[in-house]
Amino acid sequence: MRIPEQKIDEIRLNTNIVDVVSNYMQLKKRGRNYVGLCPFHNEKTPSFSVSDDKQIYYCFGCHNGGNVFKFLMEYKRISFVEAVQELARELGIIIEAEDQYEDSIKSETEILYDLNVEVARYFSDNLLNEKIGENAKKYFESRNIKLATMRAFGLGYANFGRESLTEFFKTKKLDLEKGIYLGLLLKSESGIKDRFNGRIMFPIFSPNGRVIAFAGRILEDKADTAKYVNSPESKIYYKGKILYGLSHAKDEIRKNDIALLVEGYMDLISLHQNGIKNVVAISGTALTDDQVLLLSRYTKNVVLFFDSDSAGVNASMRSIDILLKRDMNIKVASLPNGEDPDTFIQKFGKKEFEEEIQNAQNFLEYQTEIYSRKGFFNDPIKTVEAIRELVKPISLIADELKRSVLIKSLAEKFSLREKLIELELEKVFAVNKKEENVAEKFRVKSEAKEQNVEERILKEIKVEKELIKLLLEGEEKVSKLILEKIKPEEFQLTIHQEITSVIEKLLDEEKDVSPSVVIDQIQNIKTQQYILEITFDKYRISDEWESLKPSEGISILIKSAKDAIKKFKGQKIDFELKNNLEKLKTISDEETKIDLMRRNSELTKKKKEIETEIL
Ligand code: UTP
Ligand code: MN
Repeated sequence: MRIPEQKIDEIRLNTNIVDVVSNYMQLKKRGRNYVGLCPFHNEKTPSFSVSDDKQIYYCFGCHNGGNVFKFLMEYKRISFVEAVQELARELGIIIEAEDQYEDSIKSETEILYDLNVEVARYFSDNLLNEKIGENAKKYFESRNIKLATMRAFGLGYANFGRESLTEFFKTKKLDLEKGIYLGLLLKSESGIKDRFNGRIMFPIFSPNGRVIAFAGRILEDKADTAKYVNSPESKIYYKGKILYGLSHAKDEIRKNDIALLVEGYMDLISLHQNGIKNVVAISGTALTDDQVLLLSRYTKNVVLFFDSDSAGVNASMRSIDILLKRDMNIKVASLPNGEDPDTFIQKFGKKEFEEEIQNAQNFLEYQTEIYSRKGFFNDPIKTVEAIRELVKPISLIADELKRSVLIKSLAEKFSLREKLIELELEKVFAVNKKEENVAEKFRVKSEAKEQNVEERILKEIKVEKELIKLLLEGEEKVSKLILEKIKPEEFQLTIHQEITSVIEKLLDEEKDVSPSVVIDQIQNIKTQQYILEITFDKYRISDEWESLKPSEGISILIKSAKDAIKKFKGQKIDFELKNNLEKLKTISDEETKIDLMRRNSELTKKKKEIETEIL
């Protein structure tokens, strides 16, 4: 169900995040904010803050944060729609589904979903009811897939010949261009053709069970043909944000409070048919942070069931890091060599498979074993190296309690003093911090290899950040002032461009620009987190006006904004001036010299103007 945007705005406007959060945990007032012990990770000193004026929350320990909807989604492990509905019920606001009163106007994405459903039905019909699908059906049967399972997962078949689906589009008068956009059809010199040719088809579902893409598998493995072909990404399909099978698994995952993570489509389907239903598949890509975030809405506990070959081990190691960053509890199962979850459960049955879940090792044991298998512990120097490596993932965990338990177990395992491991951990923390800083610098677009690039960029970023902070105060007047003078593309950091374009758009549409609204408009998780960090920064500008009346507060903000705008503009000019002067020293060509001098006097004039301009 889609909820109309005005309804969402109405609910947000009538809800106070402090009241909602207080229903679930204790908050204490500290300064302008409220703080408490984070409900999303274990901690002894509170790093969870809620802002009354910004209507968002953030935990500095585990980086969980967002607006009131996000809080309910995370706390109750429910979907966005469920969170909105829950608040609506409390407020007595009645929500009618969008399609009820906007029956005739379907959104673009709605049309794409519908098209995929038509096509999924067509593929399924080929498989289940048509003669041409007999071989495909035999193939599934040879892999012991039952009819009921084929139906439950909407499995299908795309004919050989590259004409059938195109024909189906034409007779059904479906939109060919949209079929091409979704990667179902191909445009070639000889006209439009089917993209999937003689493959068994797996519809890929969104968490709510909509068909958003397809994967097609060849019937017989051949060295020169890709085993699986997938739909390209589109408006409705972002590969890194989807977990295959989640819509079939989510209730069971919630109920058992644990999810199994497998690699392939067939693994998932086969487990499901054999009664193991709390499973999702990452299907061919490396696990992404977005996927973990999605999964963490349903449970914090996962068991990895990856292949035991070296590619599988590497995938597990990488996945562990990504999962730890979101504070997931991880176990790793090791199936016998050569088996994947599908072949294993078919050979040994459900009971044995459940034993494998029981016997899964915690991630530290697993990693220790991998290093041991690689011979690290035969030699003291390599042992130290391995211990260092083992400490790294522990440093990713935000939960203090969990960290100390793991430190203890690592110390015991190698008969080391805990203090020693803690020291090692401190070192890793320091390295992580440094890497973050370097990464930030790399995000900067530097046009040329100018001198002073680094100094320049750091200075500019500082002013940019000040401007972003001011924008995130959520005051319309202040934001308007800044964005009238500075356009999003003038910001150096792409992350700043991203934030300012969203705010610009909201201003354009005369909407609220508070951070709680801005954050809903941003897809990128890193950017969301950045917004939260900045809004809850200790050195917030608004701290100064803590004691002032609201009207006085705003005038201070406006003054700060004016100063920052001037600084931003002035700095850009200063750097160009300085750069030109450097160039003048080395250039001999007269014409260029004159050009540069002309440019400089222009810049100097412009600088005066900016300094004296009354904003
Ligand atoms: P596998 O090669 O392990 O396949 O790839 P599988 O799932 O066991 O499939 P069967 O049992 O041979 O039928 C694991 C997953 O990696 C992705 C698919 O999602 C697959 O399920 N993959 C694999 C691709 O996307 N493309 C490929 O060419 C191969
Ligand atoms: Mn397989």
